[in-house]
Amino acid sequence: MVAKAIAPSKIILSGEHFVVEGEPALVAAIDIYAKCIVEERLDDDIRIESKDYFGKIHVIKYSKNKIVDYAGDKTTKKILRPILIAVLKTLEFCETKRGLDVYIESDIPPSAGLGSSAAVAVAASASVLGEIKGNIDKEIIWKAAFEAERIIHKNPSGIDVTVSTFGGLILYKKGERPTFIKLNYKPIFIVGFINKRAKTGKLVEKVLKLKKEIPSIINPIYTSAGNLTIRLVEALKNRDLHTAGLLLNINHELLSAIGVSIPKLDIIVNIARKKGAYGAKLTGAGGGGSIIALVDESRLEKVKSSLEKRVKKLFITSIAEDGVKII
Ligand code: PMV
Repeated sequence: MVAKAIAPSKIILSGEHFVVEGEPALVAAIDIYAKCIVEERLDDDIRIESKDYFGKIHVIKYSKNKIVDYAGDKTTKKILRPILIAVLKTLEFCETKRGLDVYIESDIPPSAGLGSSAAVAVAASASVLGEIKGNIDKEIIWKAAFEAERIIHKNPSGIDVTVSTFGGLILYKKGERPTFIKLNYKPIFIVGFINKRAKTGKLVEKVLKLKKEIPSIINPIYTSAGNLTIRLVEALKNRDLHTAGLLLNINHELLSAIGVSIPKLDIIVNIARKKGAYGAKLTGAGGGGSIIALVDESRLEKVKSSLEKRVKKLFITSIAEDGVKII
């Protein structure tokens, strides 16, 4: 049998980093997808082939508990190992063994703060389930993809895997069931990717170290960020974009205070604000990656044209209600 799944990427509206230590964060799935096709093989091996965002092909083959063969470059094994883990864990949770050909194609820029690795792992796990059972079980997908995330960075909050699996707008607290937030309108976000990429794991470690070194200074920033997220949910529910924008701006400054912004991000965030965005902030781990700007139809064009020439890639997005699905 052949099974095909797609999983959405995400933007964090507030609370990244703070969420790792238990503060609530607000995250939305967006309609940029990772796709995966899985097909049964005649032998017991698992072959994974991935075409990345830049069009580069990476391949590994896993046979008798070892990676025996790979094609690509020196990063190939590192890039594909989490996908292999997601596939193996899914098979393990289904108490089955089989040889599989796994094909991945992602439209999500990697290391851009958009949850590319989580979406790929979620899509891979879902298509393995589709191949085995003909349908998906989101609890299994979440568990398998979370194991894969742990390979990439040791201390993930689980926010990326959760939103890619379940979709929608989610108020997320580590270790708790996600709360789904329903809005009766579609907020518009401009996402700008600056093509400077940073490792999430390293940034998470740096922030945790700072918190340990000067807790009396940093802990109140965590509390403030947690309160901000709760206020942001209210503002968005009430369609109060002015307050929502103000809170996004403050969230960016809190992230700056813990050392994860960089001058280029600060510059484009400020341009977006000056050109009429209700608010703008970095999104995801920082150190590079992407910014988001909250606009509406009347403000969209002006902000978009001011950012276009300053970013590598620009997306106009809203909340994608669906999480991973078989197509
Ligand atoms: O991997 P990114 O850049 O999308 O960021 C994930 C959000 C963090 O809060 C920085 C890490 C986490 O596990 O929650």
